Amino acid sequence: GDVRLWGGRFADGPADALARLSASVHFDWRLAPYDIAGSRAHARVLHKAGLLTADELTEMLAGLAQLEDDVVGGSFTGTVADEDVHTALERGLIERLGPDLGGKLRAGRSRNDQVATLFRMYLRDHARTIGALIADLQDALVGLAEANSTVAMPGRTHLQHAQPVLFAHHVLAHVQALSRDAERLRQWDKRTAVSPYGSGALAGSSLGLDPEAVAVDLGFERGSAGNSIDGTASRDFVAEFAFITAMIGLNLSRIAEEVIIWNTKEFSFVTLDDAYSTGSSIMPQKKNPDIAELARGKSGRLIGNLTGLLATLKALPLAYNRDLQEDKEPVFDSCDQLELLLPAFTGMMATLKVNRTRMEELAPAGFSLATDVAEWLVKQGVPFRVAHEVAGECVKECEALGIELDELTDEQFAKISPHLTPDVRSVLNVQGALASRNGRGGTAPSAVLAQLSELKADLVIQ
Ligand code: ARG
Repeated sequence: GDVRLWGGRFADGPADALARLSASVHFDWRLAPYDIAGSRAHARVLHKAGLLTADELTEMLAGLAQLEDDVVGGSFTGTVADEDVHTALERGLIERLGPDLGGKLRAGRSRNDQVATLFRMYLRDHARTIGALIADLQDALVGLAEANSTVAMPGRTHLQHAQPVLFAHHVLAHVQALSRDAERLRQWDKRTAVSPYGSGALAGSSLGLDPEAVAVDLGFERGSAGNSIDGTASRDFVAEFAFITAMIGLNLSRIAEEVIIWNTKEFSFVTLDDAYSTGSSIMPQKKNPDIAELARGKSGRLIGNLTGLLATLKALPLAYNRDLQEDKEPVFDSCDQLELLLPAFTGMMATLKVNRTRMEELAPAGFSLATDVAEWLVKQGVPFRVAHEVAGECVKECEALGIELDELTDEQFAKISPHLTPDVRSVLNVQGALASRNGRGGTAPSAVLAQLSELKADLVIQ
């Protein structure tokens, strides 16, 4: 028979081309468990409003339970003719309960308020999944920092040697960014805990249903939508989710890029575990950082999902428009990609081996202690303007001689400036440079240790 929900006023079924264009069942089928949960809640408020008898409610809930089993077991699926998951599940219910009872559930609801509600439920679940995967990655990064807590490395700006930092400090910078991503997910989840169910197509229902009861039933802590038009037509919760997932991808891509660079022969800062790297079909010696590269690549895709969605939403008049069916695939994809990527990425970071000798050999190179010379001069009472100049002279001299700062002789120092007594050597070593930056948030071992325990405490609370 005709499965369409809106066949009444139409002479004939839709053209094949329209049916194919219109179908979303191949991608919205993943909403099926949420649709059934929504149907259960809806059946209860229909009963509360006197529109289903107690026996009908019992039978309805049994039919929904059976349908759910068949969906989970795979014996019931939607087809192109069903158009979408909501229609398919109504067909399934009618097949199980007959048209008289099965046909009663649609009263007072629309696919517009259904889909807006189910989509929130789906994304809220996946926000939790992704949040847990981020916590796993943070754990791995904290472990990496702790295992290498005294290793110094060249800190960079503009990718040039800037000042030495602790490797742990650098790694924890990424953990901090991920903490904000996790916080964004939690804040988004709170904001999204509002149920549009009961908004109907756009105007609410005349049937005396109780949207607040449905909201409680479906776990929406902030109750039902305050405006049925907004409830059915707003998708900022989707756009925000797409942004947060894009931001997570972007943060992963920044770690990824560093791993790729660190893993080059020229840097040789890290070694990837065999289980988390790939070989080449032609070059037997190759060991490639494919996980990091896929992370870098997928971050572009996540950004695309966000911008595509924003373009779909732009200038849409209220209330529901069919354009909104385009809202799901991008963020479903963002969930899928992150849930695929994060476990691999975490494995790669958890098994990363750090080449301490190489990092520490390069930490003082490239005159990265020039700032320490300048700040040492300031402590001797020299104005910073002059100190900066003098330290710059030292660098110039070293560059001309092809040596590093600590290789200048006492005479060469004194010739550059009388302020440069042999005592300046006390700051011309990496450990001293690190230890001196001991204010909150600095790279001194003591400050990094404090940062580490703050982050670990946060991770436990999440
Ligand atoms: N499948 C649609 C969506 O995902 C919901 C159905 C609303 N269709 C309609 N003609 N009002 O947005």
